Amino acid sequence: MTRPILGIETTCDETSAAVLDPDGAIRSLVVHSQDVHRIYGGVVPELAARDHLVRIEPVVAAALGEAGIDRRDLGAIAVAAGPGLIGALLVGVTWTRASALALGIPMIPVHHMEGHVFGPVLEDSDAEPPFVALLVSGGHTLLIWVPGWGSYHLMGETRDDAAGEAFDKVGKLLGLPYPGGPAVSAAAVSGDPGRYAFPRPMLDRIAGVGDGSSAAAPGDFDFSFSGLKTAVARTVMRLEQAGAIDAERPHLAASFQAAAVDVLAGKALAATAAVGCNRVLLGGGVAANGALRARIRRGLGRRGRLFAGSPRLSMDNGAMIARAGLFRLQAGVGTGLEEATARVRIPGMVRWRPGKRGGAAGRTPLPGIPPGRDSQ
Ligand code: KG4
Ligand code: ZN
Repeated sequence: MTRPILGIETTCDETSAAVLDPDGAIRSLVVHSQDVHRIYGGVVPELAARDHLVRIEPVVAAALGEAGIDRRDLGAIAVAAGPGLIGALLVGVTWTRASALALGIPMIPVHHMEGHVFGPVLEDSDAEPPFVALLVSGGHTLLIWVPGWGSYHLMGETRDDAAGEAFDKVGKLLGLPYPGGPAVSAAAVSGDPGRYAFPRPMLDRIAGVGDGSSAAAPGDFDFSFSGLKTAVARTVMRLEQAGAIDAERPHLAASFQAAAVDVLAGKALAATAAVGCNRVLLGGGVAANGALRARIRRGLGRRGRLFAGSPRLSMDNGAMIARAGLFRLQAGVGTGLEEATARVRIPGMVRWRPGKRGGAAGRTPLPGIPPGRDSQ
């Protein structure tokens, strides 16, 4: 393809459009973050869909204007077709299908989490497989061994809440504004991470994997965050009754963040040891967390590499969708996600099995629908 590609993202509460050149360079990126949800302390799916409907045309027009092109100059439109909120997804997919048809160009459906894999690629030409991808967002927590582009081996995923969801819920418990992630990490700056000993769920499962003294078993790289959230909730309740919550807020935020970072970084680093590759790619909104990035970078040491995009490209945006679309188009392998789909695995992803050469020996197919909430 020689003409620019447009990327559309409407899976949750960001309406975003971006124009990329065929070589992957960003010509424009516009992100509208919906603030209608703030007063509810969480995303209201019906309001999200309605807001996407109102915003999508102006957001696309702004992205095209910033890129200095007309929509007739486009070569293709990539759209995040799932997973996400179904009403929100339908707006992006329907808008894209109609526009692609009218312009006579292809629509390229993209999986939202594969989009997050391509976030850091937009800024760093060194960001290439092999790497272990830790994808941490409001709806998903995935640890994937990526030996080559488009080859995904699922090492672990959350069994209950996603990492970002845990940050959001703790933010709510602490009376901080939505979304909780940035607010909790800001509050944590002045707190003592050792003040409260919150649990590190399922971290003991990888003890010994990092130093090679024990082999990893299936499920060892899975995550669980609901117990950690409950532990914070109990402590908050106790402190509220004692009238001590205000002074303790930064310490609670720091102690929670330390527990979440221990688990996320600990599993990612153990995964690099298990596959024998000391390169990590960090994607999704929680990748904006400075403590998490610093911890993984420190763990990898000077000989390892961490690929993490700037916060703007880690959080939901149309540029990562356009970049994933370019990859699919150039590889000639579609995702098959023709319809908006609320819950769906990254197409072609297999379950990782411990084995020789990074576990590539194990190619167990995964069920098409991941476990988790119906809304995401
Ligand atoms: O990838 P994303 O923009 O949207 C989804 O696909 O869900 O991720 C949003 C999530 C939210 O849960 C938000 O609280 C979290 O990313 N987040 C953070 C930070 N910035 C955003 N979590 C921890 N620390 C941050 N600095
Ligand atoms: Zn996302």
